[in-house]
Amino acid sequence: MSGRKPIVTIDGPSGGGKSTVSRLLAAKLQFTYLDTGAMYRAVAYQCREQGIDPDDNARVTNLLSMLRITLLPPDPGEDDVRVLINDREVGTSLRTPEMGMLASRVSAMPLVRASLTGMQQEMGAAGYIVAEGRDTGTVVFPQAAWKFFLDASPEVRAHRRAAQLRSKGMEVDEQALLQQIVQRDKEDSERSIAPLMAAADAHIIDSTGLDVAEVVNLMLRIIQENPCST
Ligand code: DC
Repeated sequence: MSGRKPIVTIDGPSGGGKSTVSRLLAAKLQFTYLDTGAMYRAVAYQCREQGIDPDDNARVTNLLSMLRITLLPPDPGEDDVRVLINDREVGTSLRTPEMGMLASRVSAMPLVRASLTGMQQEMGAAGYIVAEGRDTGTVVFPQAAWKFFLDASPEVRAHRRAAQLRSKGMEVDEQALLQQIVQRDKEDSERSIAPLMAAADAHIIDSTGLDVAEVVNLMLRIIQENPCST
């Protein structure tokens, strides 16, 4: 596997368990966890805060030129990375389904993707990261040594996401969440740049009948069986 970097990528649709799996896998490997979705959510958050229409190229360009996103490790027992936007910490409001929908919308803009992809590549330049998102194995880190695509049925994903949001104290209508998940996957998969899809060399894992520990162990086995010579 020469030319490959010690990077793990985990892509897949929303609610597939990527965050929990990525955090646990990063801890096992002693790699840094890079949540690229949090960065798209940060742009969406700033658009909403500043009343910017995500289709307004000029204002979004200006926003991006002043945007500094810092990701810090999750608090103990939490899955989500802590996100600082221009040094100010944003709490759980970044994680609502509505912010996910807005993030999906801003993520279809070429200038947003170009800017965040560049930041992510810088963050991963030294390797030893577990990156999760939609295009980390296809576009951001095509040279990653280990690529996974994590999927599960939409119903299971909606159920898991509902439980996750309820644990943060949010009220959830699971049927509405299922519809949002299906809609967001459709938009993420059908956009023209960096659509949600498995890299040709990704290991595809369907987690419908697996728990988190089983998924992490399966990934660890694949990583151990395919060492990366750097
Ligand atoms: O993983 P998440 O739910 O936090 O992601 C929010 C949105 O951000 C998702 O619907 C699409 C977009 N996204 C993306 O386009 N590319 C990524 N690498 C990660 C997220």
